[in-house]
Amino acid sequence: MATDPTTSALAEREPIGVIGCGWVGLVTAACFAELGHDVHCRDIVPEKIESLARGEVPIFEPRLAELLERGRERLSFTTELAPVLERARLLFCAVDTPPTHSGDADLSRVERVVDEIGESSDHALVMKSTVPVGTGRAIARRREGLGYVSNPEFLKEGSAVDDFMGPDRVVVGAEESASAFAERVAAVYQPLGAPIVRTDVASAEMIKLASNAFLATKISFINEIANVSEELGADVTEVARGMGLDERIGPKFLQAGIGYGGSCFPKDVSALKQLAGNSGYHFQLLTAVIEVNELQKRRTVGKLKKHLGSLVGREIALLGVAFKPHTDDVREATSLVLAARLVGEGANVRAYDPVAGAHARELLPGAHVSGSALEALDGADGAVLVTEWPEFRELDWAGEVRERMASPLIVDGRNFLDGHALAEAGFSYEGVGRPRGALGAPSPA
Ligand code: UDX
Repeated sequence: MATDPTTSALAEREPIGVIGCGWVGLVTAACFAELGHDVHCRDIVPEKIESLARGEVPIFEPRLAELLERGRERLSFTTELAPVLERARLLFCAVDTPPTHSGDADLSRVERVVDEIGESSDHALVMKSTVPVGTGRAIARRREGLGYVSNPEFLKEGSAVDDFMGPDRVVVGAEESASAFAERVAAVYQPLGAPIVRTDVASAEMIKLASNAFLATKISFINEIANVSEELGADVTEVARGMGLDERIGPKFLQAGIGYGGSCFPKDVSALKQLAGNSGYHFQLLTAVIEVNELQKRRTVGKLKKHLGSLVGREIALLGVAFKPHTDDVREATSLVLAARLVGEGANVRAYDPVAGAHARELLPGAHVSGSALEALDGADGAVLVTEWPEFRELDWAGEVRERMASPLIVDGRNFLDGHALAEAGFSYEGVGRPRGALGAPSPA
C-alpha cells in the first residue's frame, strides 16, 4: 500500500539541523523539508549561505531546485551553529571528508563540528559524511554526553533526490546509549517505507564502505571479463545480459567500460583498503580492483595505437569529460587520465562535453576544449567516446561525422554507439569486450 510520504510525516515533525550545505547536505535538507520537517542549515561559507537564502541553488542536481523552492518556508540558512543547536536536536553532519595524501580520510571538518557542538546531551550528531570505520566510536568516547548516530548516504549523482526519497534501505547505527536518538532518526525516514537497518555504529560505517567497494568490484570484474572476451571472441554485453538474469548476480553495475570514476568509488575503495592496511590486514581483492580500474583507463590508448601506430601529431577527439552523463562533475573522471596519457604520447587532444566544458579547461592541460562534438571531430584521426551522453548517439555518424573525420576510427569506451551501423558506414569501431574484427576490420594506419 503506497503512503504519501509528505502527509504521513507531518504527524511526527522533527526539527532538523543540517551541517554542511554541499551536495549531500542540500539534498538531505531539501528532502526533509519535502517530508514536512523544518530544516535549519548551516555552512561556514557566507557566499553560499547568502545565495541559498536568496533561493539560488549552487549545484546541478535534478529536482533539487524544485524541492528547495517548494520547501522555502520550512528551510533556513545560516553561517552560525548556535541558532541550529537552539532549534534542532538531530544534527545531520554532511561536511566533506576528502582523502589526504596518505589515502586516509581528512576528518578535520568533522572534528571542527564536534568541537563546536561541545558537550550537549540534548543533541545527536547524525553522521551522513563517509568516515572510516571507528570514527563514531572515537567521537562518542570523547563526547560522552553527545548522542552519535551513523546514517550513511547512498545517493547517486543525477538521481540523488529520487534515491533519498525512495531508498533501497536506510542504515541507522547507534550504541545503546544513543538508542533513543536512533529511534528518532529512524522515525524521520519511516514515511519512505524502506527497510531500516538498525545496527551498531561500526557496522553502519562499514556498510557504506563495503557497499561502494562491492559495486566497484563488480565493475572491475566485468571489465576484466570484457578484456578476456576481446581475446577469446565473446561479447561482454551478451555475457553481462546472461549473467545479470541470475538473481544472485543482478543486471546492475555490469556495464563494461573504461573504468569507474566520480567522487565516491575511487575514494571509498582506497579508504577501505587503507583502513584495512592500518589495522594490519592487506585487502588483496581491493588492491586488484583499484589496479584493474587504473589499467582500464589506459587500455584505450593501446586501441588507438593498434589502428594509428604512433600517436605523435595525431588529432584525437574525446567525446565526454564528465565521469558519467547528466553531471558536470569531473572528479576522478577517466577523461583526465586518458587526456594526459594521450598528450604524453604526443597526440593533439580535443575534448568536448555538453556541460563539463568549463571544468575541462582547468583540468585537461595541453588539451583543446571544443565547443561542439562536430568541432572536436573535425579532421580527427580517431575519436574516443568517454561519457555516454545521449547527444553523441544523435550525431550524423554515417554522414557529416564520416566526412569530417580525417580517418574514421571510433573507440567506444561505453559500448554506447551502434557498432554494426558504424562499421557499415565505413568506420573502424572498437568497443569494450566486443570480439575483434566482428564489427568492422581495422583500417590501415
Ligand atoms: C556512487 C554510488 O552509486 C553511491 O551509492 C555512492 O554513495 C556514491 O558513489 P556515483 O558516484 O554518483 O554514486 O555514480 P554511479 O552512477 O554509481 O557510477 C559510478 C561510476 O561507475 C561511473 O564512473 C560509471 O560510469 C561507472 N560504472 C557504473 C561502470 O563503469 N559500469 C557500471 O556498470 C556502472
